[in-house]
Amino acid sequence: MVQRQITENEGTAIETSTNEATSASVLANREGLNIKKVSHAFNGVAALQDVSFEVEAGQVVALLGPSGCGKSTLLRGIAGLLIPDRGEIKLDGRDLRRVPARGRSIGMVFQNYALFPHLTVAENIGYGLACRRMPRAKIATQVAEMLRLVRLESFAKRLPRELSGGQQQRVAVARALAVNPSALLLDEPFGALDRGLRAQVQDEFIRLQRNLGITTVMVTHDQEEAQTVADKLVVMNAGRVEQIGSPEVLYDQPASLFVNGFLGHANKFKATVTNPSSLRLAADQELQLGRELSFRPGYQLTMTARPEHLSIAPKGEKNTLDARWIRAAPLGHMLSVDLELPEGTPVKALIERNMGPRPSPGSEVGLRLDLNSVHFYPKENDQ
Ligand SMILES: Nc1ncnc2c1ncn2[C@@H]1O[C@H](COP(=O)(O)OP(=O)(O)OP(=O)(O)O)[C@@H](O)[C@H]1O
Ligand SMILES: [Mg+2]
Repeated sequence: MVQRQITENEGTAIETSTNEATSASVLANREGLNIKKVSHAFNGVAALQDVSFEVEAGQVVALLGPSGCGKSTLLRGIAGLLIPDRGEIKLDGRDLRRVPARGRSIGMVFQNYALFPHLTVAENIGYGLACRRMPRAKIATQVAEMLRLVRLESFAKRLPRELSGGQQQRVAVARALAVNPSALLLDEPFGALDRGLRAQVQDEFIRLQRNLGITTVMVTHDQEEAQTVADKLVVMNAGRVEQIGSPEVLYDQPASLFVNGFLGHANKFKATVTNPSSLRLAADQELQLGRELSFRPGYQLTMTARPEHLSIAPKGEKNTLDARWIRAAPLGHMLSVDLELPEGTPVKALIERNMGPRPSPGSEVGLRLDLNSVHFYPKENDQ
């Protein structure tokens, strides 16, 4: 069994190579998770609309999107806790439509740990196995293996309330993995942890997930977490998939204004195309793009620029925008600067901290945009 080989080698130099070999052979006969055109409505209100994506065997996909966009509903559909109105869900080639939750070979971890408070750590981890009527001795062996996997060997007899948040989270993951599932679903698993602990538990989770090569879908609100943990991101908005791609592709080539602003910060500039290669912004500021746009003159659009694609120049310098320096705050070796355009549009820039003399609050500066990195979208409705 995969877990046994991993735990025996844990912490040794040969761990990685052994497990990579193990994972590769385990992945060979698996097809991962396939979600095809899944739709669901609650009392006539659409919660999921034609949601489709794939999770390759052994991959982690993060579902990302604002509150209420359908992330948990989709996860519950995959787990079998809800039967979607339409669509297909396949795990390793098997159609799950008529398979009840307990027959799906899926482990799930909920946001609030959901450990049984009156059961010890060991009893919590063994719960699913006891439900499956596994003999006691086998349960004990499997629980011991899981405890080693999440590095909680000495905590077996404790109750959940005697553990830290991070430890409880590891027990929840161990409990989901104990039944040796084909896929793991996590609904905001680290949301309740503070920043430092969250980073630590994320690292532990990545190590575990990579070692087991288990197909995983994780829901998160946290874009940084999604980018750290996932191979692929699925950004959802109002029940629909907005974009699917690697964290880098989504950050660098956001397909919509929504994705652009959801992953990282996007400064927005409302503009009108004046000729094929220039724009007029608010307060009649002109910007030469140095390349031709495919939009016709008069077209109104929203241009976006990330804070790291802005820099500060002396006021009035060629092809910069007039802006007012409002305040600056250090962010590691960078400086996060709040500025304001003449018509009041707020702008955030991220610049080197040692840029030279720092403008004083309220002073006028030039704002230079890295015009190779800006994006253009059709104008927003409120424009
Ligand atoms: N059992 C239910 N009955 C009726 N409406 C529901 C039910 N469950 C969810 N909804 C609605 O479906 C939509 C999607 O909910 P869902 O829980 O999937 O959102 P979510 O993306 O997980 O949000 P959050 O990030 O806040 O957890 C919401 O509008 C919600 O109110
Ligand atoms: Mg949710």
